[in-house]
Amino acid sequence: MHPGEAAVTGLTLGRCGSVQKPDRPLRNFDWQPTRRAKDVEELELIINSRPYTVTVEAEMPVLWVLRDLLNLTGTKYGCGMALCGACTVLVDGRAVRACVTPISQVAKQEIRTIEGLGPNHPLQQAWLEEQVVQCGYCQSGQLMSAAALIETNPSPNDAAIDAAMAGNICRCGTYPRIRKAIKRAAQLSHPNN
Ligand code: FES
Ligand code: FES
Repeated sequence: MHPGEAAVTGLTLGRCGSVQKPDRPLRNFDWQPTRRAKDVEELELIINSRPYTVTVEAEMPVLWVLRDLLNLTGTKYGCGMALCGACTVLVDGRAVRACVTPISQVAKQEIRTIEGLGPNHPLQQAWLEEQVVQCGYCQSGQLMSAAALIETNPSPNDAAIDAAMAGNICRCGTYPRIRKAIKRAAQLSHPNN
């Protein structure tokens, strides 16, 4: 393990070298752990540029690892079926649905979550300027999809925004403000365009 790396197992959470009992059982709305030793692997992860080692079942969804094992709870659970986008994270810059992506598929790739989108990120700034958020539940997923978009498209038009954001549902209907905020964030990110 590297210095500063967190060691985590499927049933315990190691933080700052300590081992704690989970305060609640692993979620199992859709995915069920087999609890067979042969299904457990040690995986190296890179999340928000920080290395982690987790000992988990290879099929455990990324969302479960983030929220239940690593306490990165900014990524939300919505549908668990890749339908709402609330759980969106970036893997090597691509927006993926963490609720249906097995953790073994993203080992050693760069995973970015909402915690990795710092407060000075142009998207955070634009979201505040446009006062996008209503209830907020969908917003971490919206922001991660928007991040994937503006990192590859410095000047997205309405059609590009609609295509990139189509999988992110907002029950509060903040879509017009999201569109404006993405255009603003793209300007802030690429001022010479
Ligand atoms: S919770 Fe993953 S898409 Fe809805
Ligand atoms: S802000 Fe409430 S669901 Fe999107």
